[in-house]
Amino acid sequence: MKTVPIITIDGPSGSGKGTLCKLLAERLGYHLLDSGALYRLVALAAEHHGVSPENELAVADIAGCLDVQFKTKGDDIQVVLEGEDVSLAIRTEACGMNASKVASLTLVRKALQERQRAFAELPGLVADGRDMGTVIFREAQVKVFLTASAQERADRRYKQLKNKGLDASLSDILMDIQQRDERDENRSIAPLKPADDALVIDCTQMTITDVEQKILTFIHNKGIL
Ligand code: DC
Repeated sequence: MKTVPIITIDGPSGSGKGTLCKLLAERLGYHLLDSGALYRLVALAAEHHGVSPENELAVADIAGCLDVQFKTKGDDIQVVLEGEDVSLAIRTEACGMNASKVASLTLVRKALQERQRAFAELPGLVADGRDMGTVIFREAQVKVFLTASAQERADRRYKQLKNKGLDASLSDILMDIQQRDERDENRSIAPLKPADDALVIDCTQMTITDVEQKILTFIHNKGIL
């Protein structure tokens, strides 16, 4: 059986992983896994069912039988949860914060493991998340850890939300990012950290094109392209 090439891109909120993974997946013709969207969907489904993000057993149940579809709509991906289009609802800061809470629950992470691994199909996969290279796809041939200063990430997120016509406050976003970093980096299960064999890129002062080029060179040097 042919091995599926896997590229993992991990890093904190707002480091530009999302845009970069989309670009790389398009360029290489690979599948794309946005694992953060799964945690956001679990958080939203829990809210819809009146379940607190701290209730581990109930949230894990929801994660285990998440009824979700990802539909291609032009250049975008439409996310449908239990028949409802939640593409915008899962992108709010509040949903990101609840996602970070449910993501710290061991049973929830376990419930989502196989669903994430199932994305590894030929011709290849670009996986975006926090623990793609350290837990879910430890065997990945290419691992990248993308980071940037908290201030730069807050500025980028603010512009992103404004462009989508969503309400936003820069100081609130910076505070949220710092709180989320703290929770994601210090949780006992699958904390946010670079894999030992990851290429670490601080993109505070880099353009997305520079980052993409750097990763493409890294992939090429690994003999994948
Ligand atoms: O990448 P994102 O902002 O959409 O992720 C939302 C939250 O989900 C983030 O605060 C941490 C969590 N997450 C995680 O713990 N593990 C992943 N592989 C992806 C996201």
